[in-house]
Amino acid sequence: MKNTSQPNQSKNKFYVTTPIYYINDVPHIGHAYSTIAADTLARYYRSKLGKDNVLFVTGTDENSQKSVDAAKKVGKSVQDYTDDTAQKWQSIFDSLNITYNRFIRTTDKDHTKTVQDILQKVYDNGDIYKGVYEGLYCVGHEAFMKEDDLVDGLCPDHKKAPEHIKEENWFFRLSKYQDRLKHYILDNPDFIRPQSRRNEVLSFIDKGLEDFSISRETQDWGIRLPFDDSQVAYVWFDALLNYVTAAGYGTEAFSKWWPADLHIVGKDIIKFHCIYWPAMLWSAGLELPHQVFAHGFFTNDGEKISKSLGNAIDPVGLVQKYGNDVLRYYLLREITFGSDGDFSLQRFGEVYNSDLANNLGNLVSRLSTMLIKYNNAEYNEVKVKPRYEYEDDITKLKFHTCLAELFSWLDSLNGAIEENKPWELFKTDAAKTVEVLSAITSELLLIAKYLEPFLPESSKKIQAVFDNGKVVSSEVLFPKFD
Ligand code: MSP
Repeated sequence: MKNTSQPNQSKNKFYVTTPIYYINDVPHIGHAYSTIAADTLARYYRSKLGKDNVLFVTGTDENSQKSVDAAKKVGKSVQDYTDDTAQKWQSIFDSLNITYNRFIRTTDKDHTKTVQDILQKVYDNGDIYKGVYEGLYCVGHEAFMKEDDLVDGLCPDHKKAPEHIKEENWFFRLSKYQDRLKHYILDNPDFIRPQSRRNEVLSFIDKGLEDFSISRETQDWGIRLPFDDSQVAYVWFDALLNYVTAAGYGTEAFSKWWPADLHIVGKDIIKFHCIYWPAMLWSAGLELPHQVFAHGFFTNDGEKISKSLGNAIDPVGLVQKYGNDVLRYYLLREITFGSDGDFSLQRFGEVYNSDLANNLGNLVSRLSTMLIKYNNAEYNEVKVKPRYEYEDDITKLKFHTCLAELFSWLDSLNGAIEENKPWELFKTDAAKTVEVLSAITSELLLIAKYLEPFLPESSKKIQAVFDNGKVVSSEVLFPKFD
């Protein structure tokens, strides 16, 4: 039994993914959350393994009924609509400083080929058969639902009555994998994290897995089945396969990148990632990813974020005002990764002032000002014994602990300035003053290095202020806001 709770890196590489996003909406804070978390890990592993050994993939999920409906609403062809909106998503992720290696679109040519190849493999394996589906389909979830899932006849998440459909379509033999999947999850306690989600998946399996429909007869938009071109692939079957397409399925690169080390997903989509996905991979003869980590959901001032409530928080507006690092800090420090959390603008402002402006920003400006004043802008970089090593926590996705520890260390450096009072010490002992300021600056520089995956822009700015024994620029890292 393996129990590391760290994504496995047996091949000395790291492949991390986010969910691919539906494009009938603009990115909100929840979408930014999965992506910022994955970006943080990608940056960390690049510094550890080298940039060529990290693959970080995000993108858009376009072959859905939602795309068709949204295009119709604005009077565009589905292709034009998806081209425009995918472009918007990508440029928003660029403006959020997301260092993805590939932005995959499920309309990309290589992805269509992957889906068709794998469908054929699964079909040849005897895991796909024809049947009649009669039941309920929720476009919001892009999933079939049961009467028991509804509240007052409506989907409880989307507050809409699902469509009743009857189609002859193709089914995947999920039931065949029930026992194997249960044992796999029991034998690999870190395959699904956190523990609460693992338990949820296990109890879902215990209720019995039913085969699911993997094609749509009445939809035109999508990837045609290789063995029946009158039907298109069910959007989830298609979307999950983005992870193997992006790993270079069918090329030499695939053996380097697959299996993925980590899929970061929201808790709403664990059934697809922890039940459908492993069975699909087994059927296609592929290895399972090392870990699926499900994070929690945000509310906005205590309210569920939804399009209909119109309370989605726009991450771009926030970063334009405060900067990218502030959003990253808030999301990763305020909410334990894996638990639900709340986004409040008031709290955002408080955290900005107390942690970023008054703690980190203040330390940088005090140190640079005093070095300029008391030692001709010079310091001696000394070897620092780290008070905290973040390796273990960051690889276990304990972002919140990493930042709490690093900021408490920064706090103690501000404390050391107060204690030593360089402005008084200088009057009696100039050499000691330089020693104290140099020691604190050296610790700050080490923390700045550790902060790079979390706060890349600030880390770079700090390292630009203190360069090789000299204060070379002055920079207000976090200006005060009211
Ligand atoms: N397209 C599918 C995923 C396919 S992956 C092979 C999908 N897309 S989505 O756009 O609806 O949502 C994607 C993810 O956005 C969610 O799983 C979750 O990670 C994130 N979030 C959406 N709303 C959120 C919150 N309110 N809070 C936190 N994350 C949320 O599902």
